[in-house]
Amino acid sequence: MCEATRVISVVGTRPNFVKVAPIIKALDRHPRRFVHRLVHTGQHYDDRLSESFFVDLDIPKPDVNLGVGSGSHAEQTAKVMLALEPVLGAFAPDVVVVIGDVNSTLAATLTARKLGLRVAHVEAGLRSGDNAMPEEINRRCTDAIADELFTTDRIAGANLRRENIAEDRIHFVGNVMIDSLTVHRERARRLAQGSRLGLEPRGYAVLTLHRPANVDRPEKLAEIVDAIRDALPDICVVFPAHPRTRRRIDEAGLGDRFTDRPGRPGIVLVEPLGYLRFLSLVDDCRMVLTDSGGLQEETTVLGVPCVTLRDNTERPITVEQGTNRIAGTTRAGIIGAIVEARCMEPSRLPPPEKWDGRASERIAGIIAGWTM
Ligand code: UD1
Repeated sequence: MCEATRVISVVGTRPNFVKVAPIIKALDRHPRRFVHRLVHTGQHYDDRLSESFFVDLDIPKPDVNLGVGSGSHAEQTAKVMLALEPVLGAFAPDVVVVIGDVNSTLAATLTARKLGLRVAHVEAGLRSGDNAMPEEINRRCTDAIADELFTTDRIAGANLRRENIAEDRIHFVGNVMIDSLTVHRERARRLAQGSRLGLEPRGYAVLTLHRPANVDRPEKLAEIVDAIRDALPDICVVFPAHPRTRRRIDEAGLGDRFTDRPGRPGIVLVEPLGYLRFLSLVDDCRMVLTDSGGLQEETTVLGVPCVTLRDNTERPITVEQGTNRIAGTTRAGIIGAIVEARCMEPSRLPPPEKWDGRASERIAGIIAGWTM
């Protein structure tokens, strides 16, 4: 009988929580095979960005919360490293699982590798080619030093091979974010979040914006919001705003661009929604407008047209599938992409390879094999 494998997962932000939930479930299905601990760095700390996701996704309370909070990139990364080092030392894991491309991901990878621990990166190999994005730096650095790289699609694997990553470090497992979507879609549907706001199915759009490049300069934020409003004069655009974005809107005095009356045409600012309510809203909408990464993937599986408010994407498979349009962030680009998206029917294409709800199961199987 072999000893149980000791696994620590480190998460810090909203999308990390969505991705870790099915991994924990997959490990928990084999209680004699794995001992698992969950560390929350505290990068996201608002209940609306953190606690509500733990509740919706039925994630156990973290064993440790490092409580690092917000700060500059250097400050946040350094705080995670300082606080995580003794936790890793005390638990002595066989494997440290890091997820996605946020500051907590890179910080945990650096800390664990320098302690000589085996690091497995979930969602490896995504590349936008845009080093102005902090996430691109986090992705490249994490993949360069993590030992094991779990990829969501074949394009990600090809990116890693181009960077001379050895074949035996790359594991094509599929998409854990879609594992969560598969498990929770029916429950989310029953919440009928759109109807609760007085909206007709496919009669409204959903907007999310939080990238510094889009929200930190008032002129850019105004250009994006005005383009959306002008391209969709006849429908309601529901905008659950990230706290950072809400603050920028207030600071820039742009509040008059929005309404607080759902059901009428215009952009309606609402509080950030939990996982289930947000999924429910997106599943029924006419189109999504976003600068998020994960939402490009979720809309691909839901078959909902997505207009990406960025100049590039690290998830080109979503464009190949035909659900996603890269609009850029200029007025002309946004209006053009919205006009195209309005003509699109919901996609009936099958989801990408291995986006089948079983990625976490594959990950657990591979980790189990390392310590047999
Ligand atoms: C982070 C990730 C981003 C990811 C996003 C998901 C990095 C570099 N960025 O962006 O890749 O797409 O999470 O949501 O890791 N704030 C709050 N409450 C919170 C957390 C943050 O009000 O619970 C505010 C603070 O003003 C903070 C700002 O949001 O300074 C930015 O937070 P931060 O964690 O640095 O980045 P996000 O924009 O959330």
